[in-house]
Amino acid sequence: MVSSDKDVVILAIESSCDETAAAVVRNGREVLSNIISSQIALHTLYGGVVPELASRKHIERINQVMEEALAEADMTLNEMDAIAVTYGPGLVGALLVGVAEAKAVAYAAKKPLIGVHHIEGHICANYIENKELSPPFLCLVVSGGHTHLVQVEDYGVYRIIGRTRDDAAGEAFDKVARAIGLGYPGGPKIEKISREGNADAIVFPKAKVAENPYDFSFSGVKSAVLNYINGCKMKNIPVIQADVAASFQKAVTDVLVEHAMMAVDEFQKDKFAIAGGVASNSVLRAGIERACRQKGIAFYCPSPVFCTDNAAMIGTAAYYEYLAGRRDGWDLNAVPNLKLGER
Ligand code: KG4
Ligand code: ZN
Repeated sequence: MVSSDKDVVILAIESSCDETAAAVVRNGREVLSNIISSQIALHTLYGGVVPELASRKHIERINQVMEEALAEADMTLNEMDAIAVTYGPGLVGALLVGVAEAKAVAYAAKKPLIGVHHIEGHICANYIENKELSPPFLCLVVSGGHTHLVQVEDYGVYRIIGRTRDDAAGEAFDKVARAIGLGYPGGPKIEKISREGNADAIVFPKAKVAENPYDFSFSGVKSAVLNYINGCKMKNIPVIQADVAASFQKAVTDVLVEHAMMAVDEFQKDKFAIAGGVASNSVLRAGIERACRQKGIAFYCPSPVFCTDNAAMIGTAAYYEYLAGRRDGWDLNAVPNLKLGER
């Protein structure tokens, strides 16, 4: 495994969506602090993330969150080897707050600056609790903005095998939750109410993408849920929220598991990991774990707190970038549609 002779301690900042987060990470895998200030209460009032409000909340919270991260790690800014920050993809205004903060702090403290890709961070979250995990491995990244099947060829080297053609998996959870009246944030609410529902009550479609069997499409299942609800209303049949939620969750997680295992057969037969907010879903975790067990391959997943947005995962990704010699200049900018593997 790649490593450094001396300890490398990184202060990482994450502000790409609706969590203001900072963490201190030693040698990539040891999380000394992980502070997350969630904006859920604020955005719940509007039924989803309001980008401008997210930026405003980040600017209000970021200094305190960073101070807390240093205090909890019992370290000072001067003891940091580098300052890392998510610079894309994400909401541009939200990203800019983190990027400006990281640049200011790095400049003032004369520390190297490292910009991190948010999805790379999600993937690297797997290294935190699985000290033995090293590339190559396959990873299913399922978040609010992305659904990617990725071959992690080496630290910082990624090949995308499949991606969503329309909605991300988390986005589908959020839209369906809104449609059946559960509100924001959709994923956890669908998971919770599904425990009381029958996952076989309604058969929702599992879309296949003809050109690439590893690609995903979730807009069809979302539309099918909306049509089902409208149909019930027209026929005066009550909509059983728990059944709709459980059946929708099954349709989405079944497709994710099927594609994941197809990729295992073709690309990487020994190690499979999951990452991103939707990876905290217990039905998905259990489904992939069972499938991996049946194939006799190792399964990795971060604890739920490292699946949803956090800065520890950014500190982990930054460590490997640091070892590879990557440093950013004072011209580092937010890149809202940054592609994985692009610099
Ligand atoms: O990774 P993340 O925190 O932020 C992005 O990078 O997008 O993912 C957020 C997404 C949201 O769409 C949220 O509804 C979904 O992850 N999510 C879940 C669960 N927890 C969060 N989806 C399904 N089940 C969950 N338990
Ligand atoms: Zn994320």
